Amino acid sequence: MRGLCVDLGTGSTWVCSLPGGATVCEPSVVTVDTEDGIIIDAGSISKEAIGKTPESLMAIKPLSGGVIADYSAAEGMVKMLVKKALNRTVLTGVTALVTTPSNATQMERRAAAETVKNLGVSTAYTIPGSMAAALGAGVNVLTPTGNMVVDIGAGTADSAVIALGTIATGNCIKEAGDSMDAAIVSYVKRKYNVIIGENTAEKMKIELGCALPKAKNELKKYKGRDISTGLPREIALYSEEIRLVVADIIKKIIDSVIITLEKTPPELLSDVMEAGIILTGGCSNLYGIEELFTQKTGFKTKVAESPSGCTIRGAQKVISDKKLKKLLKITD
Ligand SMILES: Nc1ncnc2c1ncn2[C@@H]1O[C@H](COP(=O)(O)OP(=O)(O)OP(=O)(O)O)[C@@H](O)[C@H]1O
Ligand SMILES: [Mg+2]
Repeated sequence: MRGLCVDLGTGSTWVCSLPGGATVCEPSVVTVDTEDGIIIDAGSISKEAIGKTPESLMAIKPLSGGVIADYSAAEGMVKMLVKKALNRTVLTGVTALVTTPSNATQMERRAAAETVKNLGVSTAYTIPGSMAAALGAGVNVLTPTGNMVVDIGAGTADSAVIALGTIATGNCIKEAGDSMDAAIVSYVKRKYNVIIGENTAEKMKIELGCALPKAKNELKKYKGRDISTGLPREIALYSEEIRLVVADIIKKIIDSVIITLEKTPPELLSDVMEAGIILTGGCSNLYGIEELFTQKTGFKTKVAESPSGCTIRGAQKVISDKKLKKLLKITD
């Protein structure tokens, strides 16, 4: 094994080894024993445990808004996921690459790189998520032609116009899938007097959420707790309700993309106009999002193939290609 790539995402973390090694993708959640602080699980079981843990355990999300919020939880999570993928935790002599938001500070980049350093890797690099996402979406980032990628994840919406291996203009905001979930929790509380957990809100977003009205206004039932009685209660929600709740956040994302376009030099802008905007990240699965982008920006927009996996695919490309290696930043 020569390389290790980690896409440290707010919602999910991908780990893969190179060449051609195992890949795991798990929710970025850990379960911690509250008494001794030891991490006992990382991934999907911990995510299911959110809102259900007894007093002796705590489900923690180590990342918020794309950056590490709890360093020891992040480090423990990466170690557990590496063990799951590779069945070992000592990676002597391996080159590692960790993704960060495009506007991460040097300290934030260093913290991301540190999560792999205790595995014994020889060098730890970082790469801006939007650059990796562009590569994973099939963009040739080294040419002088400008391409625009918008990666809409759980914690960030990261837009960038890329040419000659650099981010010419970009904008990264902390409004994405997690803010949509939080807005759904508040809406359900206000409208139905019912409390739901963040996992239920995410389920509502994935099942009913849309950027444009669906042909059929779907109705689905969910369970929560009635605030007045304290008892469980079933509520039914329409996809149109969820569309209106997430619309504000999608608007903020599109506004941030327009700001990036406004900052872009005219020559690159005409390239983007020709090629169109590419959407990556889990939230680009939202029904109608590319159509709404086209309407609001005036640029044709398409969703990349398997949009959630673009960043890790791009990271894999960089680490295995000599010409692309110059895109990496050594983080010491
Ligand atoms: N089918 C879907 N419809 C709507 N949203 C979805 C869908 N699938 C996943 N998502 C949302 O996508 C987000 C996760 O996307 P992704 O895995 O790209 O984020 P991340 O890389 O973990 O976060 P970030 O890059 O912001 O740190 C979550 O908010 C999730 O609920
Ligand atoms: Mg991401």
